[in-house]
Amino acid sequence: MKANADWWIAPWMDYGANGREPLEGLTKERGPKAGDLSPTSMGNHQVWAIGWYNAEGSYALRQVFSDPCNPSIPASASGSAWTFPNGTAAFKLLFTTADGSEVSYLNGAPTVRAKIGPSQFSDGDGVASLRLLQVDVGVRDPDASGTDWVMGTFIWQGPATGDGLLDNLVPVGLMWGNDPGVQNNTFASPAAIQQTGLNAQLAGVVWQGNNQTWPERPFPGFQGRLNGPADNLRSSCLSCHGLAQWRRHPQLSIVPSYDLDPPPTAAKITDLVSKYFKNVKGGTLNDGAVSATPLDYSLQLDAAFTRMCQACGDEVLSGPTPDLCRHPGSGQIKRETCEKTALQAATSWLGSWIAAPDLEIPPRQ
Ligand code: HEC
Repeated sequence: MKANADWWIAPWMDYGANGREPLEGLTKERGPKAGDLSPTSMGNHQVWAIGWYNAEGSYALRQVFSDPCNPSIPASASGSAWTFPNGTAAFKLLFTTADGSEVSYLNGAPTVRAKIGPSQFSDGDGVASLRLLQVDVGVRDPDASGTDWVMGTFIWQGPATGDGLLDNLVPVGLMWGNDPGVQNNTFASPAAIQQTGLNAQLAGVVWQGNNQTWPERPFPGFQGRLNGPADNLRSSCLSCHGLAQWRRHPQLSIVPSYDLDPPPTAAKITDLVSKYFKNVKGGTLNDGAVSATPLDYSLQLDAAFTRMCQACGDEVLSGPTPDLCRHPGSGQIKRETCEKTALQAATSWLGSWIAAPDLEIPPRQ
């Protein structure tokens, strides 16, 4: 990859409450729980992020949005599924309201000012200072033969050693597969993971390691698979992104929800591993029994489509209903146009429970 490469942001990340804020274009992510970022991090923090695609990735986005009002996943000439080209790379910067007083590795971290709206961290204009927490990367590489994607993440670890943004990035790890079938019957103990490499120097910093006073974070991602501090330990980078499809899976949300106290039993762990920690080949579905179009690991495409359909459902988009919003399933829009006809408007109280869009725009969960 060239040092002076061009990078582009994905379309349609603006709309809605979690959509791009006006100063930096950040979108709202999952709010970390107490003890997620460090042993002393509180549960009141916010995380905001922005990602870019390189030329290969942006070429693929251009194919999908070649009709900007009616995006679609192109049919491939060879009959195999559409995918991003090999060599596609995306990266994402994640910023947090937390600082070095709670999360020691954030001491001296680069800051941005973003209009996150009213919060205990914001000034009277809703603007807050956020610190660089995590940098995610994803690369489409067929050498990762199980998934076609390699994902890695870095933390910004202070104190600052230089004045460049990148001087203090330390790799948390890299993953190229989900280690299908690999589990430890004791939930909080890492399994014998082969397809994630973790940076042992961050044990005790990003996850528990030998720090027995940090029970909330036994590992970065599920049983030793990769995730970053901002992420939910119930998932991994590739398990969440492997569910990028349109429509979304009717049962499997991108992150499974379950209690950690008491921890899942061995049988529950087996069930989770079999459903979520598969090696989903790029351009295929996690679950072939469900009719959907694979989005080749791009959750920004999923987020874009969801937002577009939400805007159409809210009648703030005009013109014909995009075809992908008419796909059967939850949130389906049955109207021909995003604007309601006079008759539909008059009976909208009725329509609202016949065809109510109930899609939630996906922040990371
Ligand atoms: C909860 C599931 C979830 C987990 C776990 C997760 N992500 Fe994502 N990721 C998302 C969503 C949703 C988006 C799209 C919205 C956005 O960019 O804000 C996204 C966007 C991205 C993007 C931008 C391009 C794209 O594919 O959409 C990259 C790169 C990325 N994530 C990498 C990672 C890496 C690396 C990890 C692990 C360290 C990770 N993600 C873990 C949900 C997740």
